Amino acid sequence: MRNMKRRNRLLAAGCAAALSLYGATAAARAQDAPAGDAVNGKRVYLATGCFECHGRSGQGGAYNGPAPILAKTPLPFEAFKGQMRSPSNDMPAYSEKVMPDQQLADIYAFLQALPGARRVQDISILR
Ligand code: HEC
Repeated sequence: MRNMKRRNRLLAAGCAAALSLYGATAAARAQDAPAGDAVNGKRVYLATGCFECHGRSGQGGAYNGPAPILAKTPLPFEAFKGQMRSPSNDMPAYSEKVMPDQQLADIYAFLQALPGARRVQDISILR
């Protein structure tokens, strides 16, 4: 498969750009994550206000600075969970009490299911 070859080459090179190769790396990451229900994840994402800072489609936004893009996040599940439990900076923390691990898995599944950004090469006007 062409995509596989390309992915292996990029991973071997340890190239940071590989992180933004959405489709190819998403599959590998998703295998490490606990099973999540993307439909419930969307519900929780909207009900608990993630969207207010990160956008309804996980496109990113602002809160005292940039609130990162979450659609197809390249973060492995454990790093995602780490940010949720003890955020690196201004984001509010979500304890196990207010957001159990299963809800985190659901949100993660929802984020991986979002279409995310298109590659520049795929947008004809930018070619
Ligand atoms: C009040 C604004 C705000 C809300 C609400 C919020 N975030 Fe954040 N989030 C941020 C900011 C700002 C950052 C950047 C790092 C920091 O400040 O901790 C961030 C970082 C992240 C990151 C790390 C992304 C990366 O690529 O480094 C994840 C994952 C994340 N948020 C998920 C969520 C989820 C899921 C929710 C809802 C349960 C949520 N956030 C709610 C503002 C917010």
